Amino acid sequence: MRTAAGISGGLIALCVAVLLADYALATKRAPKDDQLIKTLQEQVKSDAALAPKLDGEQKRITAVRRARKSRDNALAWLLILTSAVFLTAAKRLVPPPKPPVGPGALVGQALSPANRITTQAPPPPIDLAFLDDLVAKEGRGKESAIILLQAIQSHYRYLPDDALRRLCELTEITPAEVAGTSSFYGQFRRSPVGEHIVRVCHGTACHVAGARQITEELRRHLAIPEGADTDARRLFTVDEVACLGCCSLAPVLTVDGHTSGRLTPATACDAVQQVSACEQEKA
Ligand code: FES
Repeated sequence: MRTAAGISGGLIALCVAVLLADYALATKRAPKDDQLIKTLQEQVKSDAALAPKLDGEQKRITAVRRARKSRDNALAWLLILTSAVFLTAAKRLVPPPKPPVGPGALVGQALSPANRITTQAPPPPIDLAFLDDLVAKEGRGKESAIILLQAIQSHYRYLPDDALRRLCELTEITPAEVAGTSSFYGQFRRSPVGEHIVRVCHGTACHVAGARQITEELRRHLAIPEGADTDARRLFTVDEVACLGCCSLAPVLTVDGHTSGRLTPATACDAVQQVSACEQEKA
């Protein structure tokens, strides 16, 4: 493939160079040829003996122009062909994107930032008995989809794949409907969350006041890996959320529902540590 890409790439460059040279040459010669014909036409008016010469020059110029046109047509086709070969070879040389892994792979849906997958540890095993009781209570119909998903999320703190599979077995709700509903509403999570949920407001006021720097510093401070929203020990999950409704305190975050405002990256880290320590003491 590498050789095919190299050869076709070279041919493309050659075709383009010849076409450009041809065009430049034709542009330079055309006025001279036109002038020559014009002069001969004038001379033929006074000297008929020059008619064969005029005829000869006209034939020569026409033949040269036709030859150039045929050559350019052939080069254009060659250019199209080699471009197709080059693109095919280049496409095969580029490695395909890695498929999604983890819970989100079940339904093949695009993952929103709020649903980013934590890959550091496998999700904990879950007890599916809850699903049987839930469906018995809420019903099997499609109209119960949102209520059922909310209850599952509230029970497990996210939507585990096994629970969703069981839900589809027990109800009339299809996997496609589960995937569509759970990805449409931002409240649903497809990956396990940490013990403490940190929500950093990225609404306009907070964004202007430095929400991005706060989020980055929190992720660094809590050792949350790139591409994940939860740390390896599942202690903290950091979410970026829309306006929390207290813009005068911007930038704002909540830790397990407790609000802190007028933060800097350093005080945001302190706020997270303090609230989580208090919550642990209470537990
Ligand atoms: S924009 Fe952050 S609280 Fe409103």
